[in-house]
Amino acid sequence: MWLATVLFCVVPGVLGQSLVQNGDMESLTHWDCGGFHCELTTDHHSGHHGIKVSGRSQTWQGPSQTLHGIKANGLYKVEGYIKLLNDQSGHIGQNVELEIAVSLNNGKTSYLSAATHPLARSSDGWIHITGDFNAPSQGIKDVRIYYQGPATSTNFVTDSVSVTPVGSNPNWRAESDAVINRVRKSDINFAVSLASGINLGQVEIDVIQTKKSFAFGTAVACDEYLHGNTKYQNFINQHFNWAVTENALKWDIMEPQKGHINYQLPLDAINKLRSHGIKVRAHNIIWSVDSTVPQWVRPLSGNTLKDTVKHRIQDIVGRTKNLVEHWDVNNENLHGFWFQNKLNDRDYNLDMFRIAHQAGPNVKLFLNDYAVVASGGLTGAYREQAIRFKNAHVGLYGVGVQCHFQPNQYPDPTLIKQHLDTIAQAGVPIWVTELDVINDDANKRADWYETALRAFYGHPAVEGIMLWGFWSKRHWRGEPAALVSGDSFTVNAAGNRVLDLLEKQWMTHVYHKLTGHNFKVRGFHGNYEVRVKINGKENTSLRQHFTLGSASHAVHIHVTH
Ligand SMILES: *[C@@H]1O[C@H](CO)[C@@H](O)[C@H](O)[C@H]1NC(C)=O
Repeated sequence: MWLATVLFCVVPGVLGQSLVQNGDMESLTHWDCGGFHCELTTDHHSGHHGIKVSGRSQTWQGPSQTLHGIKANGLYKVEGYIKLLNDQSGHIGQNVELEIAVSLNNGKTSYLSAATHPLARSSDGWIHITGDFNAPSQGIKDVRIYYQGPATSTNFVTDSVSVTPVGSNPNWRAESDAVINRVRKSDINFAVSLASGINLGQVEIDVIQTKKSFAFGTAVACDEYLHGNTKYQNFINQHFNWAVTENALKWDIMEPQKGHINYQLPLDAINKLRSHGIKVRAHNIIWSVDSTVPQWVRPLSGNTLKDTVKHRIQDIVGRTKNLVEHWDVNNENLHGFWFQNKLNDRDYNLDMFRIAHQAGPNVKLFLNDYAVVASGGLTGAYREQAIRFKNAHVGLYGVGVQCHFQPNQYPDPTLIKQHLDTIAQAGVPIWVTELDVINDDANKRADWYETALRAFYGHPAVEGIMLWGFWSKRHWRGEPAALVSGDSFTVNAAGNRVLDLLEKQWMTHVYHKLTGHNFKVRGFHGNYEVRVKINGKENTSLRQHFTLGSASHAVHIHVTH
């Protein structure tokens, strides 16, 4: 009994142990249903029971309980299941949430949307809500977790709730390095034979990576890239192998008035990028956040709206399908549902992908969203959305995670990995599409970009990383996020750090003096040139070129005078 008491007191706060009591909802114990009705039901996600909720008078009402052991600044992962029993007529779906209410010593209450799932419907069955929250840094008096969200006329069942502390991982860097070594590199196996009269000690083999395969890119301001500062243009051409159009392909910018479409700016920029060997992500066909829908589209409805959207998709994909690798089809579709709402069809976002996929079957199609990696309130919802698109076979290739970190938000590598792991469960590739970190101090910014890049490059599901700009004069967040500063176009501390990673640390360049006939170089994926020197002098007719991919590569060299 004594031991059991001690364990009970110690367990909250231990990594991996949930702070929720009776999270399995096998009874009503510990769950507060003040002002509405809760009853035990055999409808369950796990165990044998769940809690059925009805008779609510406020949308924020739902089963709740006090969480004991929440620590100031602590990071917590939140999970739970919910099943709606009826829908709200006239709505394509409803927001369901696990919310954390933190009462502070100063009398205020802070409400944190730990995990949100948009557009839930009864036909979805059990919905897995996943997210996380950061406890306030001080003055915590009392913390409660709530289910909330649906209209009061919607009844629902809840089950399987947990809140677990996430400790920061002190080994993240070693683990990231190990992944980089495993997934970004392959073996190059050399077998060297020597003509008579040549000794091992006279021969040096230089293994030089001339091009990287991994996609490192930037958002490009198309006007600046075509007609602006040549230093800006040269920097892009010299340092990036991928680019994403920042604004020029957005519908409301291309076609502010019906039929007056500026194709030239984005297409000229794309053609110029391609002429410099830079691959292009196209961003974006449709953007469902209300404020971004072109003014002239807003009055449209029904088949007129559908035809207009179809034309936009077929037209722009048709004109770019042989020029771009990726299209973001429907931007930020966890945050905006304008077209689905207007057409009263939750599945219309699937139709957009179908139309795009038909118009350009070889273009890789993406979802693209925020608050999924830099913060975690929609991380689980993104996984669920990606699974829905994948299972619908509408041509989804991968998911874009924007990664605009907040001002002065450290890009926590533990949290980044946890969010990427959750999204990767959908089983589709992840691209970091819009990275920026913000710190006025360029040295700290350098550390933060390095941390973020290591966390992303060191995750096996990540296939490419795009910065959302680099030059302070053409960066939406200006100098505090920039790699290159001001009119003088000075590469700052953050820029030097990023270039050192991309062009030195994550490129292979080995000078190997022969001590035997066989040796191995583990190299980053990309193109290589091999040079052979005898007594310090290269014989250029022995040069070899090859591309190193995910399989090991054999190089045979016969050294003659
Ligand atoms: C360089 O290598 C080629 C090919 O093995 C050989 O024919 C040639 O004689 C070499 N040249 C010199 C200067 O050693």
